[in-house]
Amino acid sequence: MPPDLHRMTYENLLFDIQNDILTITINRPKALNAINNPTMKELRYFFGTEGPTRSDFKGVIITGAGEKAFVAGADIKQFLGLGAGEGADLSQIGHDAYFFIENFDRPVIAAINGFALGGGLELAMACHMRIASEKARMGQPEVNLGLIPGYGGSQRLVQLVGKGKAMELLLTADMIKADEALRLGLVNHVVPVGEEIEKAKEILMKIATKGPLAITKTIKLVNAYFDKNVDGFALEVEEFGHCTTTADFREGASAFIEKRKANFIGK
Ligand code: CAA
Repeated sequence: MPPDLHRMTYENLLFDIQNDILTITINRPKALNAINNPTMKELRYFFGTEGPTRSDFKGVIITGAGEKAFVAGADIKQFLGLGAGEGADLSQIGHDAYFFIENFDRPVIAAINGFALGGGLELAMACHMRIASEKARMGQPEVNLGLIPGYGGSQRLVQLVGKGKAMELLLTADMIKADEALRLGLVNHVVPVGEEIEKAKEILMKIATKGPLAITKTIKLVNAYFDKNVDGFALEVEEFGHCTTTADFREGASAFIEKRKANFIGK
């Protein structure tokens, strides 16, 4: 089912739902799927406004159109000639969109089918997991342009690979291959070319069999670890307490005791 077109006309994103999994394709292949401001606003709208209200999918895959790129970065052309404050505004829109992805109530996996550079790697890092094809290439090349990451890369790269390696990748602008990204913990799995979406679907379909409220709470708790304003341990106690009162927990525990498959309803 296509998204509600009355609310936003999506010019740069393609949507496809199969087996309760929504695949969103960034569709600007001529520019290697570089994310311009309209594309970023579409992502922000979907993950911040429309997606949370929809119940017709249980997980999301983000990928790039064509053979060559996931996303080759923010669209460089839009940064030229910006006036005072305009660059910060563009950056903030990206921050908001990626925040909504990172905090989405269902799992979001990046299927990295080629170049994931700059704002493209930042998009992948905002997702909950990353599957890379063997030909994927990743990096933060902003300093080559006299620029810095503008969509959270200076923070999320440190979270994923640690300070030393993040510093090296950010300062040298080196582009790394998929096997190196796997070694660093930047991606979860590397698969043969063309199998990245299938692998992401396999993971999402497994997660879709679990208690949906528990999945949402787990995403929230893992994110809480990185939020300086939240005590993740206290939040875990609170959320655990709530979990034990849910119909899903009663169903999951009963199914275990009765040696049958649980039928979760998300309540
Ligand atoms: N923005 C705009 N257009 C881009 C783009 C980008 N980030 N990346 C690629 N393109 C365009 C190219 O301009 C080219 O368009 P034309 O055919 O109209 O000239 C087309 O995509 C194909 O690209 P190439 O001819 O360069 O392809 P290639 O195979 O020779 O090289 C590449 C591939 C190594 C990925 C190279 O395109 C490249 O280096 N791209 C830029 C990568 C980059 O610097 N990304 C960071 C952007 S800044 C950023 O993201 C900031 C932030 O955090 C917010």
